[in-house]
Amino acid sequence: MVNDLIQKIKKKTAKVGVVGLGYVGLPFALEAAQAGYEVVGVERNPERVRKINQGRNYIDDIRETDLAREVSSGRLRAQVDFSGVEELDVVVIAVPTPLDKNLVPDLQYVKFVTQELAGHLRPGQLVSLESTTYPGTTEEVMQPILESSGLKADKDFFLAHSPERVDPGNKRWQTKNTAKVVGGVGPNSLEAALAFYGSVLDSVVPVSSAKAAELVKVFENTFRAVNIALVNEMALLCDRMGLNVWEVLDAAFTKPFGIMPFYPGPGVGGHCIPLDPHYLEWKAREYNFRTRFIALAGEVNRAMPEFVREKAWRILNEQGLAPSRSKILVLGLAYKKDISDWRESPAIEVIKLLRRDGAEVLYHDPYIPVFQAEGLDLKSAPLEDELLRAVDLVIIATAHTNVDYHRVVQLAPRVLDTRNVTKNLHEHEGKVVLL
Ligand SMILES: NC(=O)c1ccc[n+]([C@@H]2O[C@H](COP(=O)([O-])OP(=O)(O)OC[C@H]3O[C@@H](n4cnc5c(N)ncnc54)[C@H](O)[C@@H]3O)[C@@H](O)[C@H]2O)c1
Repeated sequence: MVNDLIQKIKKKTAKVGVVGLGYVGLPFALEAAQAGYEVVGVERNPERVRKINQGRNYIDDIRETDLAREVSSGRLRAQVDFSGVEELDVVVIAVPTPLDKNLVPDLQYVKFVTQELAGHLRPGQLVSLESTTYPGTTEEVMQPILESSGLKADKDFFLAHSPERVDPGNKRWQTKNTAKVVGGVGPNSLEAALAFYGSVLDSVVPVSSAKAAELVKVFENTFRAVNIALVNEMALLCDRMGLNVWEVLDAAFTKPFGIMPFYPGPGVGGHCIPLDPHYLEWKAREYNFRTRFIALAGEVNRAMPEFVREKAWRILNEQGLAPSRSKILVLGLAYKKDISDWRESPAIEVIKLLRRDGAEVLYHDPYIPVFQAEGLDLKSAPLEDELLRAVDLVIIATAHTNVDYHRVVQLAPRVLDTRNVTKNLHEHEGKVVLL
């Protein structure tokens, strides 16, 4: 049976489904269509479905012309439900995997989609989970649900995990040229998944199980979380020692071996780094194992907005201003530069903390014109000269490259730069305080 699927893959006659057309699913659906497959996206958000079917883009890294070309050629379309899914040969799942308030994995989206698929499953299909999750999700959670259809995994249908590693905003490494790790619940599943991903993307990296593939991804994100926490801790120590952490790190990173660059900031954000390591932490408990680095990194990184607030207080205090009588502009709301994704963004926490202190807080983000979430209802303030002169402090929270920082430091009375974007603006050194 696996050979039939592989033949279809080779001839590109296999029909592909992608469930969840967000930051991960849409770029992959587009790549699969560009590789020559007929692709159907299943997306529960009707607005997104409408846009795709009109060839309109809503994800930063995608060129609308590419999307429109695949839609008008008939290779890519979207729908809100699972009708016709039994006709697909490959189904890729890229739905959210959040945490609940107690940092416990919330697999409701994965489970819901798997149940829907179980109702449409037919022999010979390949199902591949791309959502980031703890080791065991594919085998322990998805496989029993899919097998409730009466079909057996790795024999009647194929089941794999292939974590997505996309780095939104990264111009060099994108879905197509980032090596794809693939693990199956058995040898046939691995073979089918390798054949499929190898036919769409530049390179594939097989591992021996779906569980190993799941751990690869959460390890990668844990590696980042821990190293960011380490440099954040250095920033706290340098603050006490009166040293410039950026100078220290830049010098350290000139070493050509044994070190790699990570930079401090107001905290970590996005759908990955703040969340995924806790998936692993949660699962490790089942093995009576405490992942101490994960807990500590989470603690250090989550405390960074508080440090930004404290540093802002100090700057205001020097000017004889109480936080409750100050007007502060937070520059950048997205969790990282040049994208519009604000999920888990530390800038939001900084705004909330400062508002709780009674400060009047505005934000400017060229990518986020309005922000109505997390109990806030704000509009991006135009970055006009008068505004920069009128505020008491500008806090640079995101290093967007399309902001004129020279003008910001020239006009604003004081600047707290949490990203070191003012590095080369030496003439204003007295005005700028670095994290
Ligand atoms: N964003 C990243 O940088 C990134 C990178 C690597 C891995 N991941 C992982 O990929 C997964 C998806 O993340 P994302 O950033 O693409 O999320 P996203 O929120 O951008 O996209 C998920 C999409 O799934 C849709 N969806 C939810 N439930 C659905 C359902 N039942 N049926 C159909 N569609 C449904 C949502 O409407 C949304 O459009 C997560 O597990 C995440 O951790 C994300």
